[in-house]
Amino acid sequence: MLPRWYTDYKQNVENFVFDWLERNYWKYANEIPLKRFFEATKYGLEWGKRFRGVLAQVGYEIFGWDLEEVLPFAGALEMIHAFSLVHDDMPELDNDTLRRWKLTVWAAYSDWEALLVGDNLMMLGFELLSETKSKFLPRILKLVANSIWMDGMNGWQYMDVWYELYPQNMDLKTLQQIHSKKTWALITAAIVGWALIWGASEDELKLLASYGNYLWMAFQISDDILDVEGSVAQTGKSVGWEKKWYVYFLWLDQAKKSLEEVVKKWLDIAERIWNDKLRWLIEFMLDRKS
Ligand code: IPE
Ligand code: IPE
Ligand code: MG
Ligand code: MG
Repeated sequence: MLPRWYTDYKQNVENFVFDWLERNYWKYANEIPLKRFFEATKYGLEWGKRFRGVLAQVGYEIFGWDLEEVLPFAGALEMIHAFSLVHDDMPELDNDTLRRWKLTVWAAYSDWEALLVGDNLMMLGFELLSETKSKFLPRILKLVANSIWMDGMNGWQYMDVWYELYPQNMDLKTLQQIHSKKTWALITAAIVGWALIWGASEDELKLLASYGNYLWMAFQISDDILDVEGSVAQTGKSVGWEKKWYVYFLWLDQAKKSLEEVVKKWLDIAERIWNDKLRWLIEFMLDRKS
């Protein structure tokens, strides 16, 4: 069961994003065929745990700032995350038809529409990000952009697909790198971004970055374990060993051991930051079934 604060934060970011879309893009809601494009874009955002948007709010709370201020940032992360999922599910990448307990965008609409919906969500994310009121805005934009391209999410999405095509070159080290970098983007941004916004000290930033490091590793490892061992009913997406065959063959035991190690290190860091919600997120990651 999710605690009340989590569902409240989740609601905050959802309300914010959908209200923002309606407010800024309502004019498309009545124009055919852009109406369909607008609906498809919203469809790509629906559901989800909103983990990155929640994390951003927890960060703000630690620094004691007004939650209203963080919502453009939290919402931007969720839009960018949604873009990555819309593209990830396409036939050219993972070819999945189920996501968040419903048809993936390309399966519900079409391939070309999913491509453009993904582009829309990414750019809407950056538009929202630009509304963050902070003198550190250029640094935040750079942080998010850098963590998406070559050495972040996109680069490692590329590696993930490449190794699916050429599995003979896959080894444990590469798999660990894929784990650590693919999900790096938005989780790091969520945890370090808000600290940057309010000008945290270098020491604080370092500590938070380590928390973020272990968080993203645990997140991606547990995601791949769920891809192999979870059920469709629990995860709302397609699962099975053929989906993450290399985890299944190379690494399932090792993955579970690594998850425990990562969590141990992560708990050490959480002791030093001391915040109940950050600790709860660690337990959530360990127990998560979706
Ligand atoms: C799933 O992310 C894909 C990865 C980046 C590993 P989430 O588990 O956060 O997906 P939603 O947003 O809750 O659907
Ligand atoms: C999701 O990765 C997309 C990104 C991390 C950018 P996966 O392909 O590993 O995750 P699921 O299983 O589809 O959610
Ligand atoms: Mg993938
Ligand atoms: Mg996938």
